[in-house]
Amino acid sequence: MASRSALKAAYSPYSKIRVGSAVLTDDGQVFSGCNVENASYGATICAERTAILKAVSEGAKSIQAIVVMTESAEPWAPCGLCRQVILEFATLKTPVILVNTKGKQKRLSVGRLCPYAFSPKQMK
Ligand code: THU
Repeated sequence: MASRSALKAAYSPYSKIRVGSAVLTDDGQVFSGCNVENASYGATICAERTAILKAVSEGAKSIQAIVVMTESAEPWAPCGLCRQVILEFATLKTPVILVNTKGKQKRLSVGRLCPYAFSPKQMK
């Protein structure tokens, strides 16, 4: 599973929290990413944004599904910054699959995760 191998690549010497993410794009490609921390803390990038930025920088701008894997007892949902970035490249119906390494799963949609979202629609 792409998110699991991404999680293993996490660079998180400060929080020790490992997160892996994978996005499926409309052309069937899978891009994965991990959290990459920084000594300044503020320059840390989350796993979801790593995966999305990898996809976008390879030309894939439409996300069909996103998986977020954590080692927490309950699956964790993306932070606010990541939600905003997901919104940019997904639709409100796009599935968001939250899993932990033991296989516990929670399936949401972007719309459920981002009520009253500010999205590219407002910029049209
Ligand atoms: N983190 C993610 O990778 N994704 C999120 O949505 C929330 C937080 C990471 C960033 C940091 O390395 C650690 O978790 C603690 O915030």
